[in-house]
Amino acid sequence: MKKVLKRCDIYRGNLILVNRDYLLKEETKLPDLEIISDENEMILLEKNANKFLRFVLREIQANDKIVPVSGYRTREEQEKIFKDSKEANGEEFTLKYVAFPDASEHQTGLAIDLGWNVGIIDFIRPSFPHNEVCDSFRKCAKKYGFIERYQSDKEDITHISAEEWHFRYVGYPHSEIIENNHFCLEEYISYLKQYRYRENPFLYCDYEISYLPFIEEIEIELENTQVSGNNVDGFIITRKIK
Ligand code: DAL
Ligand code: ZN
Repeated sequence: MKKVLKRCDIYRGNLILVNRDYLLKEETKLPDLEIISDENEMILLEKNANKFLRFVLREIQANDKIVPVSGYRTREEQEKIFKDSKEANGEEFTLKYVAFPDASEHQTGLAIDLGWNVGIIDFIRPSFPHNEVCDSFRKCAKKYGFIERYQSDKEDITHISAEEWHFRYVGYPHSEIIENNHFCLEEYISYLKQYRYRENPFLYCDYEISYLPFIEEIEIELENTQVSGNNVDGFIITRKIK
């Protein structure tokens, strides 16, 4: 099967970089959402991300020790969270922990905030420490496509403070490469630019990963291949070779 990649496809896919420099675009499709919890408030997540989240939670036997706190948000919800937090916690705190509307990964449906289910769970900064079941989650998550998105030593790049609870679905094997190299998503998207499609792909286990800048519409073969836009200027092509 073949697919013609158009400009709008730059803004779609598991690897889109969404931050204050690369905002969500209108072309980004509304994700195919699933309900992951409707206990207190309805929490939604993109369908595929939800499938892999369930795999992780099952494998580590999280049961009710880990709870979803916040998943998909509309632009209006993000706007309200930002405004409410500014009123309650002040601007400095809010800029550290709440992305501007359209700069939030939560609007993609690919991000999930998780809380360790002990005591009261804070909505903006749930506890998800580096121990117990939370660490089992971290170790397992990269096998199923999730990364811990905001780490303390990457604050200068992400412009968001460390958020131990915020996980982003990017898909396997990208999650493993990002975690093993201690990249943040911004760094990974830049790193891949040296590996050009059809020229010098990056090899990782059974995969060839490459970058295809958007110049004009181009048809590509989709056999054993996944394509994601980077929300910047092109595509990441992931081909399974074995
Ligand atoms: N807490 C993250 C940065 C967000 O608001 O998207
Ligand atoms: Zn979050």
